[in-house]
Amino acid sequence: MTEPVVRVSQLHKSFGDNEVLKGIDLDVTRGEVVVIFGRSGSGKSTLLRCINFLEEPTSGTIEVSGVRLEPGPRTHRQREAIRSVRIKAGMVFQEFNLFPHLTVLENVIEAPVTVKGQDRAHSVAVAEELLAQVGLADKRDEHPIRLSGGQKQRVAIARALAMEPEVMMFDEPTSALDPELISEVLSVMRSLATETQMTMMVVTHEMGFAREVATTMAFFHEGLIVEQGPPGQVIADPQHAQTKRFLEAVL
Ligand SMILES: Nc1ncnc2c1ncn2[C@@H]1O[C@H](COP(=O)(O)OP(=O)(O)OP(=O)(O)O)[C@@H](O)[C@H]1O
Ligand SMILES: [Mg+2]
Repeated sequence: MTEPVVRVSQLHKSFGDNEVLKGIDLDVTRGEVVVIFGRSGSGKSTLLRCINFLEEPTSGTIEVSGVRLEPGPRTHRQREAIRSVRIKAGMVFQEFNLFPHLTVLENVIEAPVTVKGQDRAHSVAVAEELLAQVGLADKRDEHPIRLSGGQKQRVAIARALAMEPEVMMFDEPTSALDPELISEVLSVMRSLATETQMTMMVVTHEMGFAREVATTMAFFHEGLIVEQGPPGQVIADPQHAQTKRFLEAVL
């Protein structure tokens, strides 16, 4: 299939008179892993949040697996399109956002049952498989408070996968974790990319992960993607002065 899973066209986003995204164009094709990086405040989170309309863009279009979204009034059709895009684009945040009063298993089946109306027994079977996939089969009946940060983040990944997304978006999934817990989350993400060929957009400054897993890297600077290419090119031989400077600081 040549149609991109995600197509962002001329995306602009302002908060008041602060223009945060200044015309982003980005295509993500099936199986691609796009790593997005750049300075704090450059607009990385805003881009991901605009893709599933957690923030409404000021102008531009978003397309996620054939469903097209533009800013505009919340008609019935618009709401349905937003709902559909949110199912197709799973999101994992820096903060794990699990429901504290639910067990691990209940966290994972919540959206499939309530949002998609899936059969509970089927959802439980799928959730158990996903928990095994992220290495947490034995934690199914624990509450989040009893888990480490790395375990919580892996539950958050399983929960997003339970909706069978077309693309997984990660916003700095390891930056709230203690160093020794980072690798367990990155390794789950790496398997997701290499074993299941999941299409992924990942905001991260983990350059080792990027070098190994990314098919494309996109460097953000002041609301624009100023440089984009395979990691071998962007990390090894950055063209833009800002990319060079940034990489010197993080590598
Ligand atoms: N809801 C909001 N209201 C007003 N301004 C916002 C809002 N969300 C983000 N911004 C502003 O938009 C700019 C870009 O923020 P964004 O969170 O997208 O950056 P980022 O690249 O993800 O940064 P970081 O690396 O720190 O996470 C910042 O100047 C921020 O203050
Ligand atoms: Mg951010």
